[in-house]
Amino acid sequence: MEVLRARGLPVAATCGGARSCATCHVYVHGGYGSVGAPDEDELDLLTESEHYRAGASRLSCQIQLQPQTGRLQVELAPQD
Ligand code: FES
Repeated sequence: MEVLRARGLPVAATCGGARSCATCHVYVHGGYGSVGAPDEDELDLLTESEHYRAGASRLSCQIQLQPQTGRLQVELAPQD
């Protein structure tokens, strides 16, 4: 989420990364392979969205980039 915002993308992130707003919802292209699947609490929030996509949706504030993550392609999800 911070990387997206630093690049000027319109990520509201109104809760500041506290995992309560879902305004940082993204689709990770290529599935969860490089970043892992959401945990239960994140998944609960994501599945409340009409734009939820199984196998792609993540809250960008919960994605921790690591040196081994490599190139990551994400798409901003529409806001509910
Ligand atoms: S910034 Fe609110 S859930 Fe990610």
